[in-house]
Amino acid sequence: MTINPVFTDAVPVAPIDPERQFLDDVLAGLSAPQKFLSAKYFYDAAGSDLFEAITRQPEYYPTRTELGILDAQGAAIAAALPARASLVEFGSGSTAKVRRLMVHRPDLAAYVPVDVSESFLRSEAEALAVDFPDLAIMPVAADFTRAFTLPASLPGGPVAGFFPGSTIGNFEPPQAASLLRHFGRVLGDGAVLIVGVDLVKDKAVLDAAYDDAAGVTAAFNRNLLVRIQRELGADIDIEAFAHRAFFNPEASRIEMHLVSQATQAIHLAGHRIDFAEGETIHTENSYKYTIEGFRQLAKAAGWVAGEVWTDPDALFAIHALRRD
Ligand code: AVJ
Repeated sequence: MTINPVFTDAVPVAPIDPERQFLDDVLAGLSAPQKFLSAKYFYDAAGSDLFEAITRQPEYYPTRTELGILDAQGAAIAAALPARASLVEFGSGSTAKVRRLMVHRPDLAAYVPVDVSESFLRSEAEALAVDFPDLAIMPVAADFTRAFTLPASLPGGPVAGFFPGSTIGNFEPPQAASLLRHFGRVLGDGAVLIVGVDLVKDKAVLDAAYDDAAGVTAAFNRNLLVRIQRELGADIDIEAFAHRAFFNPEASRIEMHLVSQATQAIHLAGHRIDFAEGETIHTENSYKYTIEGFRQLAKAAGWVAGEVWTDPDALFAIHALRRD
């Protein structure tokens, strides 16, 4: 068992004060003609817990469906990985998904979870090491969207990537293509990449998945305002903003907004931000792809599109991509 306890392999990013960055981003977003906030700010501790709760809602099919595909077809998916590969997971989060590949591939040379949260990486790596005692686990604390290097101690040999959860859907399509190209550079020639992508489907199913009856997604969306209030000291009537989520078929994306229920103003760091009644803050896009649409995107990003696995209801897809 090897746990690399030294998180020195990530290329250091320019030191920035995260609080200052949050304030700057919020002020910039709320000053735009269409007000917006970056979806990356959903995930503080409370937001991560709310996302976990979303994945347990009956309407939110993606997580359970992707796990189902991995359960039913994990052996075939794992067979797409080269022999004795080092497997790099981008934005690892929970190890529930990758475990469903690992059980089929005791020959994996190493597992490299890449995540910004060091404490999360450490606890997940420790739990994984208990169940896979012979696996070399080499966490890298880094933002996977930026340049980072793989651990110097990585065994030579083939490298594969894993990017589940349809996280790719949070990026605008040109940025999604850039990210896939970036993954190709990180993994190198001959790499295989396994990507989970939510599929385009009936609008009613999509709308419900992002507006669950229990109101968990609404609380997740409003948590952005909770953070702005608590961390930046803003004066906001949080209940005066309603959750709205809908599938936009022209753009092939779910949009989430916070809708001002009244003409009102919020005060933040000496700035006053005005809202008309019905005006929205655009908080998230979650792009949905057809199988063919995603294959085109991957090809445009320098990958060869390979096998695709889906569930019986064609809700979700897992793609194998190769880089020659
Ligand atoms: C974590 C980006 C895959 O888009 O489905 C869930 C986030 N937002 N409900 C998604 C999310 C609202 C989720 N991803």
